[in-house]
Amino acid sequence: MGERRKLIAGNWKMNGLHADGVALAAGIAEKLKAAGVVSFDLLICPPATLIWPVSAVVKGCGVAVGGQDCHPKTSGAHTGDISPSMLVDAGCSYVIVGHSERRQDHKEPDALIAAKAAAAHAAGLTAIICVGETLAQREAGQAGAVVASQLSGSIPAGSTAANTVVAYEPVWAIGTGRNATPADVAEIHAAIRADLIKRIPGGSCVRILYGGSVKQSNAGDLMAVPDVDGALVGGASLKVDDFWGIAASCC
Ligand code: PGA
Repeated sequence: MGERRKLIAGNWKMNGLHADGVALAAGIAEKLKAAGVVSFDLLICPPATLIWPVSAVVKGCGVAVGGQDCHPKTSGAHTGDISPSMLVDAGCSYVIVGHSERRQDHKEPDALIAAKAAAAHAAGLTAIICVGETLAQREAGQAGAVVASQLSGSIPAGSTAANTVVAYEPVWAIGTGRNATPADVAEIHAAIRADLIKRIPGGSCVRILYGGSVKQSNAGDLMAVPDVDGALVGGASLKVDDFWGIAASCC
């Protein structure tokens, strides 16, 4: 992967019943079909209950499907969890790990996130490893140090540009309508790039996504920032036109 093709990823979080999810996926697939050749990759990450039907709807039309989390083990007595190979079986090629909502709601530490990413790699999935500081950390001038420490703890050995994507998502910008300025994003993405070059063979080719209140109106400016290789989109990924509008801003 010489040139970094932009990746526009929709994280549906805990939203959508069967009918809505299938309609949303079908709408996105229709947009892509109508557009023909595009310069970006599209990914949707539905809740676990919808992975199978959504995969069936988008099959063969160039929209990838991902899980929102996985367990570090392949199988076993882990009630409620989903293994990376189950995600593959259901049609996924990606999985998000270490999203800030899981770091917060489930107290997931960096070492667990690294184990999940390693398990994802072993199953053939590309892991989207999320990092990002809280508002208190940013206000204390610790954003760079927090992200560096999360990268160091969450990226497993064996990561490559083909099996790893990093998403920078400042926690204070997620779902708040408050997004980081292009200057804030440029500073952190440049630091992440420098870190990846040291840490991963081919680190200059790893895609780094920005996430946090990305919408059609700000996507163009954010996607133009150096080292921003796409977006991880929450709220605005739940409507076909909003999500497609963000993707189209990459052209
Ligand atoms: P948001 O969520 O776009 O709703 O801010 C982004 C994310 O959490 O991935």
